[in-house]
Amino acid sequence: MITSIDEERGEVIVRDGDTETRHRLASAEGFAAASRAWIRASWDAKYVYSFAWMGRPVIQLPEDLLRLQEVIWALKPDVLVETGVAHGGSLVFYASLFEAMGRGRVIGVDIEIRPHNRAAIEAHPMKRRIELIEGSSIAPPVLDRVKALISPGETVLVVLDSNHTKAHVLEELRAYGELVSVGSYIVATDGIMEQVSGGPRTAPDWSWNNPLHALRAFAAEDPRFVIEEPAFPFNEGVVRARVTYWPEAFLKRVS
Ligand SMILES: C[S@@+](CC[C@H](N)C(=O)[O-])C[C@H]1O[C@@H](n2cnc3c(N)ncnc32)[C@H](O)[C@@H]1O
Repeated sequence: MITSIDEERGEVIVRDGDTETRHRLASAEGFAAASRAWIRASWDAKYVYSFAWMGRPVIQLPEDLLRLQEVIWALKPDVLVETGVAHGGSLVFYASLFEAMGRGRVIGVDIEIRPHNRAAIEAHPMKRRIELIEGSSIAPPVLDRVKALISPGETVLVVLDSNHTKAHVLEELRAYGELVSVGSYIVATDGIMEQVSGGPRTAPDWSWNNPLHALRAFAAEDPRFVIEEPAFPFNEGVVRARVTYWPEAFLKRVS
């Protein structure tokens, strides 16, 4: 696919094989086409490796964090469980929202929490809202520890951002889906892998071995969950779809 932008005419031109489509940049379609090209550039340029939240590196597209913030504010969960801690920036982000909201805590699970990251998270002002668990997210003792930190009746939101193979994410969805409250979500991040496959920093199997294929399989096997985009709480523009590394990522528990 070839995407080019004619700034003088205010158009984005998409060539797919022999087909050429032109959209006004000011339209939802034009914005989506330009965003798709930008998403690819952001992947290649490692753009998401350039942010920190309250001093901790956070490996996320800012658009995704802001959209998730909208969900957190609307849902006001008691507990947010995230698999995949890395430097701790996303845990600190959620904890800072909970701190501002005066409620909520975060459980972070990672197969390896490096000593310098653990020390920085433990010294962080948001630590009082964060619990760290080290081990594979799908290991039964780890799951038992997560469950022991959640009380019956609490509203639970889950974000999966650890190992992004289809098999691992599917295992996580099956295990952590049980914890999600009705009306809340389990968010399977980084389905972008399929869209960028074939580019730099990808593997040949990413066209199918990714979280998007896992979440679609999970939604097909478990009728308690549906893939559902959270509505934008505010929108006075023409854009209707998220600019995201997390396509279709929000699985809502409906029963
Ligand atoms: C993309 S990083 C997480 C980024 C973090 N959520 C953020 O937003 O900054 C992925 C993390 O998953 C962890 N990981 C990989 N396999 C895992 C597994 N089986 N269980 C738990 N964590 C795992 C890695 O150690 C790594 O720290």
